[in-house]
Amino acid sequence: MTSTLNARPWFKDAVVYQIYPRSFQDSNGDGIGDLRGILSRLDYLARLGVDVLWLSPIFASPNDDNGYDISDYRAIMAEFGTMADFDELLAAAHQRGLKIMLDLVVNHSSDEHPWFVEARDHPDSEKRDYYIWKPPVNGDMPTHWQAFFGGPVWQLDEASGEYYLHLFSVKQPDLNWENPKLRAEVYDLMRFWLDKGIDGFRMDVINLISKDQAYPDAEPITGTALTSGYPYFMNGPRVHEFLQEMNREVLSHYDLMTVGETPGASVDDAVRYSDPQRGELDMVFQFEHVGLGSGERGKWSNLPWTLPELKSILSRWQTGLHNRGWNSLYWDNHDQPRAVSRFGNDSPEFRVPSAKMLATLLHFMQGTPYIYQGEEFGMTNVRFERVDQYDDLETLGAERELRELHGWSEERIMASIHAMSRDNARTPVQWDASPNAGFTSGKPWLEINPNYPNINAEAAEADLDSVWHHYKHLIALRKSLDVVRDGTYELLDAEHPSIYAYLRSDGHTKLLIVAHFSAKAGQYRIPAEFVGGEVLSNNYSSLQLTEKLNLEPYQAVVIRAK
Ligand code: NOJ
Repeated sequence: MTSTLNARPWFKDAVVYQIYPRSFQDSNGDGIGDLRGILSRLDYLARLGVDVLWLSPIFASPNDDNGYDISDYRAIMAEFGTMADFDELLAAAHQRGLKIMLDLVVNHSSDEHPWFVEARDHPDSEKRDYYIWKPPVNGDMPTHWQAFFGGPVWQLDEASGEYYLHLFSVKQPDLNWENPKLRAEVYDLMRFWLDKGIDGFRMDVINLISKDQAYPDAEPITGTALTSGYPYFMNGPRVHEFLQEMNREVLSHYDLMTVGETPGASVDDAVRYSDPQRGELDMVFQFEHVGLGSGERGKWSNLPWTLPELKSILSRWQTGLHNRGWNSLYWDNHDQPRAVSRFGNDSPEFRVPSAKMLATLLHFMQGTPYIYQGEEFGMTNVRFERVDQYDDLETLGAERELRELHGWSEERIMASIHAMSRDNARTPVQWDASPNAGFTSGKPWLEINPNYPNINAEAAEADLDSVWHHYKHLIALRKSLDVVRDGTYELLDAEHPSIYAYLRSDGHTKLLIVAHFSAKAGQYRIPAEFVGGEVLSNNYSSLQLTEKLNLEPYQAVVIRAK
């Protein structure tokens, strides 16, 4: 029976933990995380109390984009291990009550996938139409859309004289979802993994699979010769039809959880994807809150943002999906800088309270929380001195463009990379204070954040006041309170510049959540019904529950009305 049709689907009570396998735990000394490394950390994850592990791609890949370019959807990446390792990992996870969700990357494949090799080398083969090929228009590219990793989305294939589409890197050609045979191939590979017993899919940029077949050009992007094709491939004309077909063909036959990554989706789009009556997905990842600070050069502009803006975005999603769809809740993932550095304060004084504050604020909202590896003990951004210490193709491409096309100074570029690079999330997990942070006995594929002697999982687990114990507490607490899953959400004091306060209530229980986004002490007047209430969560050791709350820097409290 499909989870989307269950009266009370388990995904609504679940907490998901995201693993970026390359950076999680190495078991064989090659400096690259692997499946046996994950296996060795399952007890740690079970102790934390999470329910579902989402593994970023583990499939065969030339690693142009660290596994988001797949060359064989049914094989394990050699550096990560074997299929036998995967089977063992799945069984061991299930034994501990942990579910496994895999990353489905089917907007594009690798250019080294046999489908693409055949399509390129044999234009007459039926595989040609698994991808999107266009002849030149007036001797030029079919459109001037900009690719997500910079440059144009079209790559000329000299041999046939046609262009192929790649919304991401040249080595990530887009699959042609208009072709029913291609869609059937995708459904087959999904069944392959589901029949092994996996518990869900996170679907990479799934709202980009349907392109406007007219391929119109668009408004130029300032300072470049390129245009934004977003309106023509985000939430495109047939995307809901395709997802409903996928649901009918595959998803509805298994008990699983699905989350679609949907950049550019509005609340109404998200309802269309996640309304259980429509039979598409269980929830989506929206990008509005992590898009704060974007400007002319996208996220690299890194502009200032305000707390009222953050409140307005998150609140619109909370109320907009209530009883209509379902939210996923996240600050961090493998594409985002570290939350404590971005939304909190990663100075030695405030790292711990502000990481706990962010967790409290998010975990009491309605939706399914996602914790990204290392977030549970407050890992921070890294500040490499040189560009060549970075690995991520997006970061390296942006560095080149900002320097060559837009004339940014090195200082400005490095400041932006320090704040926004995806490698902030990808430095290896800091397990302990031993050499290489216990991640590997070899040379790590990406340098480890030098703050690991102080910030690591072992130290955090040993300290009852740590970020880690706060997460563990929150995970358990939200499960004991139906109101967190089902209740309404009401924002208080929308314009307050440093307090984020909201109410959750379901007719039986009323909760007040207050988060203080400031490095200074402050005060906040709470509704009278909470004076004399019960403090369920507090990231400081004491609280005087009076109408005027005295708040410490980055204090966050949850109070149940009496
Ligand atoms: C979104 C993924 O999260 C990101 O890491 C990847 O680079 C792109 N999709 C392309 O697959």
